[in-house]
Amino acid sequence: MNLCVIGTGHVGLVVGTCLAEIGHKVVCQDVNERKIGILKEGEIPIYEPYLKNLVRENAKEGRLNFTIDTGVAITQSDVIFICVGTSPLENGETDLSAVEKVSRQIAKFATTYKLVVEKSTVPVQTGEQIKRTLDKYNTHSHMEFDVASNPEFLREGSAIQDFLHPDRIVVGVENSRAEKILREIYLPITNQSFDCPIHINCPRSQTVPLLVCDIKSAELIKHASNSFLATKISFINAVADICERAGADVTKVADGMGLDPRIGRSFLNAGIGFGGFCFPKDLQAFVKFAQKLGCEFSLLKEVEKINENRIDVILNKIKQELWVIKQKTIGILGLSFKPNTDDIRFAPSVKIIHELQKEGANIKAYDPKAMDKVKEVIPDMTYCNGPYEVATDSDALVIVTEYEEFKSLDFLKIKSLMRHPLIIDGRNLCDKEKLIQFGFKYYGIGR
Ligand code: UDX
Repeated sequence: MNLCVIGTGHVGLVVGTCLAEIGHKVVCQDVNERKIGILKEGEIPIYEPYLKNLVRENAKEGRLNFTIDTGVAITQSDVIFICVGTSPLENGETDLSAVEKVSRQIAKFATTYKLVVEKSTVPVQTGEQIKRTLDKYNTHSHMEFDVASNPEFLREGSAIQDFLHPDRIVVGVENSRAEKILREIYLPITNQSFDCPIHINCPRSQTVPLLVCDIKSAELIKHASNSFLATKISFINAVADICERAGADVTKVADGMGLDPRIGRSFLNAGIGFGGFCFPKDLQAFVKFAQKLGCEFSLLKEVEKINENRIDVILNKIKQELWVIKQKTIGILGLSFKPNTDDIRFAPSVKIIHELQKEGANIKAYDPKAMDKVKEVIPDMTYCNGPYEVATDSDALVIVTEYEEFKSLDFLKIKSLMRHPLIIDGRNLCDKEKLIQFGFKYYGIGR
């Protein structure tokens, strides 16, 4: 099937590449000429495991193309996936101007039937607006469009695996024609019949459930899912604060809770809180559009508040030990909002560093993936080549992102390099007993 993806950001690029990988002919469009130029050269503008190879292979096979020309992308395709950005406005609502613009362009360029699929995370009832816009700007009165919602649940850092081996595929449709097309597109995934290109940690072949529902319910599934996961994180972080005061261990509490299948262990890791481009903005957007519909979702406001407070939790631990921050050297391990991505949007590291700098600290930092991105927003700190360089002459070492490689550091060496052996483990990554035995002053989260 001929498909196009409008908007080649993190989601659009992964979606387009994976759709090509399972056998479709895909053209990815973006208005950013530089980005499309890079992709045409076989390079990728973001870090995502396995993605570069898949882009190169599918481009070589002729299944994946890139263009800045919206008209060409639309006219060549039967199905159009809208993957443009839906950033938050200042008031927390979602900026839908890019979605509206693409809808107008589709109406303008389409000369045959098109299925228009929303992939970007959008508020409920956006599908209705897309449909209205397509009808309003359609220059060919005989033209037919269907609109569908097909929310994307992929996580950064495991995006390829998440797309090719999802827990579920959700399609919100208005008729059986759209349902049939989407079922056909996803058939290789629902029956797991493609030859998996990554072969690492892939679940054994099994069918993937495809849930068909109305468009509005599909739109809501995405916001409700992300908000629920964020709620789990804030819940366990609030429990972590209680554990700390009571002398309990939140990791054990989470293990015990997680054994109940109704709760589950995942997303119960206490720490610095959630960041990234999805949870913070989706929560805000959900609260806003619920409000517009006359519903006060105050639970989610509390989730946000608990999350924002996590920065203070870390800063207080540092101050508790160092007292005065001014002229102290603080080492930061991990800058991206989570491991295996170079994404620093809404990353707790950036907020923590800004606060420490405001108080006059010298910051040294290392991240295996995200240093270049951070340099653009924090030019005035020392970027190190590795964790040992960060530790050298530091008064405190703060673990902000739980990279696997930080687990197996030589902590005796770290201790010998630091000015004071103080570790603030913002992700409960380290073996607490061992570090205490080595002579560190150790602060974890909720234990
Ligand atoms: C999320 C959703 O998981 C995904 O389904 C959706 O499509 C996009 O948003 P992502 O933002 O890539 O994906 O990251 P995720 O792995 O979900 O983590 C989000 C944040 O929560 C990170 O900052 C992470 O550190 C934090 N987190 C996660 C915790 O603090 N504790 C946990 O137990 C789990």
